[in-house]
Amino acid sequence: MLQCLDENIWVAEQPQKYFGLSIGTRMTVIRDQESCRLIVISPIKPTLDLDEELSELGVVSDLVAPNSYHHLYCNEFKHRYPQANLWGSSALKRKCPDLLIDNLLMSAGPSPWAGIQICSLSGLKTMGPLGPSPLNEFAFCHVPSKTIVLTDSAFNFDYSFPWLTRFTTRIAGGYNRLEPTILERIASSDKDSLRKSIQEVLSWNFDRVIVAHGAVVEFAGKAMLTSAYSAFLGGTVGSV
Ligand SMILES: [Fe+2]
Repeated sequence: MLQCLDENIWVAEQPQKYFGLSIGTRMTVIRDQESCRLIVISPIKPTLDLDEELSELGVVSDLVAPNSYHHLYCNEFKHRYPQANLWGSSALKRKCPDLLIDNLLMSAGPSPWAGIQICSLSGLKTMGPLGPSPLNEFAFCHVPSKTIVLTDSAFNFDYSFPWLTRFTTRIAGGYNRLEPTILERIASSDKDSLRKSIQEVLSWNFDRVIVAHGAVVEFAGKAMLTSAYSAFLGGTVGSV
C-alpha cells in the first residue's frame, strides 16, 4: 500500500469521491533520518495493513491535517496512535472542534520539523456549496528529496482516472497538468496574499510534487507549478 518515492518519503492512496466525482486521495509519510519518527500528512483511512507497514518504517509521531478539508481520518488515526501529535490550523480547530488537534500549524516562525519547510498558502480559497471557502492550506517541502507536498492547491489527474473525472477536469483544470482548478481560480480573490505565499513555495529547492488528487509529478514540478500559478495570478511568479 505504501509506495516509496525516495529515501525517507512514501505515499499511500485510497479511492475518494467529491460530489460524485472519483478523485482519490493520497497520504504522505516522511521519516526523520535520525530518529525514525514518522510524519503523516493528510492521513487516509487507517487499516491493519497500513499499521504494519508504518511500524516497519518507524514510529508515528506526528499527524498533519494540511488544510481545512483533509481531516476526515485524523481522529481515527489519532486513536490508533495516541502518542502522535495531531497538527492542524487554528481555522480547522474552529471548524471542527471535535478534532483532537494537539498543536497548531503556524503561518509564521520556524518549521516544527527538521528537514521540512512549511508555508501557509494565505489567500487560497476554493468554491464550496456555500460560496468561496478558505482552504487554510499549508505546503511542505521535504528538503533532502526535493519534494513538495500540496493538497488542494494543485491537481494532476491523468488517464488512470474514470472518464467522468477526465472529462470534468479537462474543462475545469488539472487534467494532465499540474494546476489549480477553476474552483480555486474563481474563489481566491486575495491574489496578493496568494502570490506572496506561492513565491515562498517557489523559492524552495524542489523537483517532485506530491498532490493529494492526481498523479505525482516526478520531474520538473517547479517549472510546472510556476507556469500554473503565473497563469492563475497573472504575470510571472517565482523563478525556475
Ligand atoms: Fe482535497
